[in-house]
Amino acid sequence: MPPVAESTLSVRADFPILQRRPNGRPLIYLDSAATSQKPEAVIAAIADHLREHNANVHRGVYALAQEADAAFEGARTRIAAFVNADPLTTIFTKNVTEAINLIAYSWGRANVHEGDAVLVTQAEHHANLVPWQVLCRERGATLRYLEVDEHGGLSLDALDRELERGDVRLVAFAHVSNVLGTINPIAEIAGRARAAGALTVIDGAQGVPQLPVDVAAIGADFYAWTGHKALGPTGIGVLHGRREVLERMEPFLTGGDMIASVDFDGATWGELPSKFEAGTQPIAEAVGLAAAVDYLAALGMERVREHEQALTARMLEGLAAVPGLRVVGPLDAAARGGLASFTIEGLHPHDVAELCDREGVCIRAGHHCAQPLMRCLGVGATARASIGVYNEQADIDALVHALQSARGVFGLDGSRNGAAA
Ligand code: ALA
Repeated sequence: MPPVAESTLSVRADFPILQRRPNGRPLIYLDSAATSQKPEAVIAAIADHLREHNANVHRGVYALAQEADAAFEGARTRIAAFVNADPLTTIFTKNVTEAINLIAYSWGRANVHEGDAVLVTQAEHHANLVPWQVLCRERGATLRYLEVDEHGGLSLDALDRELERGDVRLVAFAHVSNVLGTINPIAEIAGRARAAGALTVIDGAQGVPQLPVDVAAIGADFYAWTGHKALGPTGIGVLHGRREVLERMEPFLTGGDMIASVDFDGATWGELPSKFEAGTQPIAEAVGLAAAVDYLAALGMERVREHEQALTARMLEGLAAVPGLRVVGPLDAAARGGLASFTIEGLHPHDVAELCDREGVCIRAGHHCAQPLMRCLGVGATARASIGVYNEQADIDALVHALQSARGVFGLDGSRNGAAA
């Protein structure tokens, strides 16, 4: 394999699960776009919170409850700071799906009307697609799609043409495509939408884990991401919103903790962010996610990106050497996040993933929660390898080796006895 820029980042030892040796082989985890592995620092922070500081938040006067309050609100401050957002407009949700549903229900039901349009791209995964389909159907609005070109990119001219129609109320798009890998020009899109009077929603699920993100500089109305893809636990997502928009919105979920006062005939809502945080919150999860962003911040997100870009370049080179393999999305590592979705002629993606697993290499196969995009690509499914900060060059080389072997198993390498393996 030809040499590519080497990264000096080596943190595999910080991730306990990567010490496992399935079938006596190292565990090669290349499914970080689905969920990331967790460093010991995150596991320890959650355990410490549950062992030493556990109480409910925003309601207790005793010392232990105050510790829990400090841990939870301190976590919010650190998580917001990690992406240069305001803690007051940083709302905890269950995941990105819930964050986008919050916008679709609370903002969408009040502001999208018959004759309006919502604009998404063809590349959105279901979390940033289905809530808009449901909203538009319910409101008599139209859902329109911005085309993805053959290199996995979006046309800003096409965006302008859509915005010029004058009916677009909201534009929703991914920071980084979970299938194509494309890094979208999000600040540019947000600026153009804003100038046309449309709100913007950015799905940052694949952005925050691997790129330096500055929510204030991006200038979108909403930016959503999830903890479990960013080295944190499952069960916690984050929604950053523009303050004046959030203030005008009604709550999404109602109940405990999000109220100012309640009487027999009604209730008034709390201030931001609690107006959008009904019921007992994911407290230990927030503590864990704060530990995760502290860990990433200590590494430095520029360095994380550099590391993953170098591995992506190596992966693209390695994949190009596998006969019959087609990568979808941009072929330049600088234009994409740390993942590659691909097909191999003559092999079903699920067989590819299963044969990789035999060599200890974990990759995802399927539609990647983006079925309409699969149809645009003319495939039912792809295999996808996605990189995390803990991956190393050896992992990429193991993937390429496993793919070559997979072709051999099916006799696609010209071997006569392959199919019997
Ligand atoms: N959207 C997630 C993925 O790409 C679930 O795997």
